[in-house]
Amino acid sequence: MHRVLDAVDLEVRTGSAVAITGRSGSGKSTLLNLLSGIDFPDSGTIELDGREIGSLREPERTEFRRLHVGFVYQFFNLVPTLCVEENVRLPLELNGVRGAQARRRSAAMLARVGLGDRLQSAVDTLSGGEQQRVAIARALVHEPSLVLADEPTGNLDEATAGEVVPLLRSLVSARGATLMMVTHDRALAAAADRALELREGRLYPVS
Ligand SMILES: Nc1ncnc2c1ncn2[C@@H]1O[C@H](COP(=O)(O)OP(=O)(O)OP(=O)(O)O)[C@@H](O)[C@H]1O
Ligand SMILES: [Mg+2]
Repeated sequence: MHRVLDAVDLEVRTGSAVAITGRSGSGKSTLLNLLSGIDFPDSGTIELDGREIGSLREPERTEFRRLHVGFVYQFFNLVPTLCVEENVRLPLELNGVRGAQARRRSAAMLARVGLGDRLQSAVDTLSGGEQQRVAIARALVHEPSLVLADEPTGNLDEATAGEVVPLLRSLVSARGATLMMVTHDRALAAAADRALELREGRLYPVS
């Protein structure tokens, strides 16, 4: 058996921002997948707001993720056949929020990321930084308690990255949600409340 994570013991305070660094293959994405219930651990427990996720079965696991977790990915992962507003509305519809209320919330969220004038745009007409802002709006629109970002700036130039991460952080903390962000960028990691490095299956503080 290939052991990726071992003796990971981490407690994160609600509302804080944690950055995770580590070389390729060190298990960063695996850690996020455990937190969102996409993967589950061979042993140990994972709790969010006092609820044990590791022991949830499908479909509770899927429902938990849909309600309480938001994701931001390196390659944005927007749906190319949907316009900007429809992409952001999607998590609401999956959670049963529909019609005018859903459209109002997605438009308001897009205004918060500075894209209130691009609601009907095709996503492939947006720049990388704009697409990532759509993805941030999509990750937050259903008010998740945990936001997971896996290399959110990996596909952006330095200047754009320097704008996107503070935006993500401020929107997450304004909602009292917790942010767990994987990054290769030391400067971005240092700006989090806590920076941790994953090495040989364990987490170490970055000084
Ligand atoms: N579904 C899987 N089945 C088997 N091995 C896997 C699976 N997913 C990941 N791994 C292995 O687990 C290890 C950690 O992978 P992971 O994707 O978590 O790394 P990472 O730190 O996110 O790397 P990167 O910076 O390249 O994204 C790697 O050795 C990978 O090959
Ligand atoms: Mg990864």
